[in-house]
Amino acid sequence: MTEQIPSPGRKFRQLFSATPRGARLARRLTCCQLEEWGFPHGGEISDAAASVVAELAVNAVTHGRVPGRGFALTLLLARELLRIEVADARGERWPEEGRGGGSGLRIVSAFADSWGVRERSIGKIVWAEVSGMKGWEEE
Ligand SMILES: Nc1ncnc2c1ncn2[C@@H]1O[C@H](COP(=O)(O)OP(=O)(O)OP(=O)(O)O)[C@@H](O)[C@H]1O
Ligand SMILES: [Mg+2]
Repeated sequence: MTEQIPSPGRKFRQLFSATPRGARLARRLTCCQLEEWGFPHGGEISDAAASVVAELAVNAVTHGRVPGRGFALTLLLARELLRIEVADARGERWPEEGRGGGSGLRIVSAFADSWGVRERSIGKIVWAEVSGMKGWEEE
């Protein structure tokens, strides 16, 4: 898994409650933000990003939840790459594709070029990168 850190481009960051509603909101706001960045609702990029965010957010809420703490979504757009980061507060358990026979990370793998996990001071960040953002011009 190669991790490409985009140079400064567009950035969106928001905290959500670690609830199903928070996960749904994260997905919805991703589509709104992408629309603002020039990727229309229902388009290929918007749908891919929404699917990845939805699965990572649901995982943060179900597997990564720590009572009293939310999760954070960051979207970074630079050149032809969209980087999605979902940070949760649970550090001792990490995502593992195929564990428990889940389909979430398989969906992430299908839409993202690469994904991975990195530790942070509290909990972890699960990241995924979606490419093919052609047509987007950095101003
Ligand atoms: N944010 C997370 N924190 C801790 N563990 C995680 C996290 N995300 C995923 N995992 C672990 O990785 C496994 C695989 O995740 P995946 O999303 O593929 O399946 P699932 O969530 O179990 O089921 P599904 O997504 O189909 O509802 C999970 O069962 C869980 O053990
Ligand atoms: Mg899942």
